[in-house]
Amino acid sequence: MIAAESNSPPAGPPFEPDRRLAEYETLLDIGVKLSGTLELATVLELALENAEEVCRAETSSIWELDEERKELFFRVVRGSAAGAIRDLRVPLGAGIVGSVAASGEAEVVNDVAADPRWQGDASDEFQTRAILAVPLRAQGKIIGVVQLLNPVGRDRFTAGDLWRMRQFAAILAPALQNARLWTAQRRQFFHTVTALAEALEKRDPYTGGHVRRVVAYTVLLGRQMGLSREELRDLRLAATLHDVGKITIPDRILGKPSPLEPDEVEIMRRHAADGASIVSHLANPWVLHGVRSHHERVDGKGYPDGLTDPEIPLAARIIAVADTYDAMTTSRPYRSGLPHERAAAEILGSAGTQFCPRVVTAFRALCDLGRFSLETAEDAVRAISDVNPQP
Ligand SMILES: [Fe+2]
Repeated sequence: MIAAESNSPPAGPPFEPDRRLAEYETLLDIGVKLSGTLELATVLELALENAEEVCRAETSSIWELDEERKELFFRVVRGSAAGAIRDLRVPLGAGIVGSVAASGEAEVVNDVAADPRWQGDASDEFQTRAILAVPLRAQGKIIGVVQLLNPVGRDRFTAGDLWRMRQFAAILAPALQNARLWTAQRRQFFHTVTALAEALEKRDPYTGGHVRRVVAYTVLLGRQMGLSREELRDLRLAATLHDVGKITIPDRILGKPSPLEPDEVEIMRRHAADGASIVSHLANPWVLHGVRSHHERVDGKGYPDGLTDPEIPLAARIIAVADTYDAMTTSRPYRSGLPHERAAAEILGSAGTQFCPRVVTAFRALCDLGRFSLETAEDAVRAISDVNPQP
């Protein structure tokens, strides 16, 4: 076992300045890449990609510490052992990885079979010979362990490998911690907004699940139109809040079990502008435009501003199709919901009058592929959801 206590380059073979410079350049390059994102999934992916660049091994993994349960859990793992160990949890202090997390000391164990802490492989498919495990420390606390198994092209991990991995861990840990915190905050914000929107929806007894479905169809259409992951997340937020302005509509109108009278329609229509005023505090143009303009029509006959084709923001165009499709296919006390085919025909027939032709083209493509369904749409939402910062 080699336990490194120092950050100094290892003594031993003749010092090779060119090689050391190349190693520092690699580490600097990794640092730049890691500091360029707060996306947890991207940080983790970059981490393993680069761990293998720093020190070639058959398998690499990152364990995170669940402070509450005093356990380590696998965050990401690459290589042939991936399937068998993905769901493992290890108590703090148990096994080699657990003891590295508990002690905060990096370790190389080149003959695991001879180490009394070794608990065996989780599956017959992979045989661990050697482990290099380095703690991840951020703001003075251990947050996890980065681990390499079995060196490639050599029979043992060296003190040089350990030194490189320690430098790598020092770069990775703060990037991982920042991404975890940022992801946790974004998730919490989105869940709060969703809870608010769903609470408001409960005022209307006939629209159960409308927000969730409109969000899903909106994200599905946006993805079909080629929007980026970040744009889809803004779009998801806009769709979640699209009807938030209905908080200002009196119960007698919102819950009326029959078609609205013209004066009631006028009151109901205020929800778009009222909603925009409510969400203006978020300072997110996708949300603001989606909420204010989701009842605009490309022929200029919509509300609240009577915008025409080029003026209607993209978020609003997409939400308009998702919202209308769901309204048409959902039953109200005074009418039954339409089957998909009838609703789809209505949408297709309204391209260029009510709806943006580009959005309708995306809708048509999804229908032709048999992929305009709630199930597919909810998969699209899951695909843009944040990695859970604490599974
Ligand atoms: Fe609306």
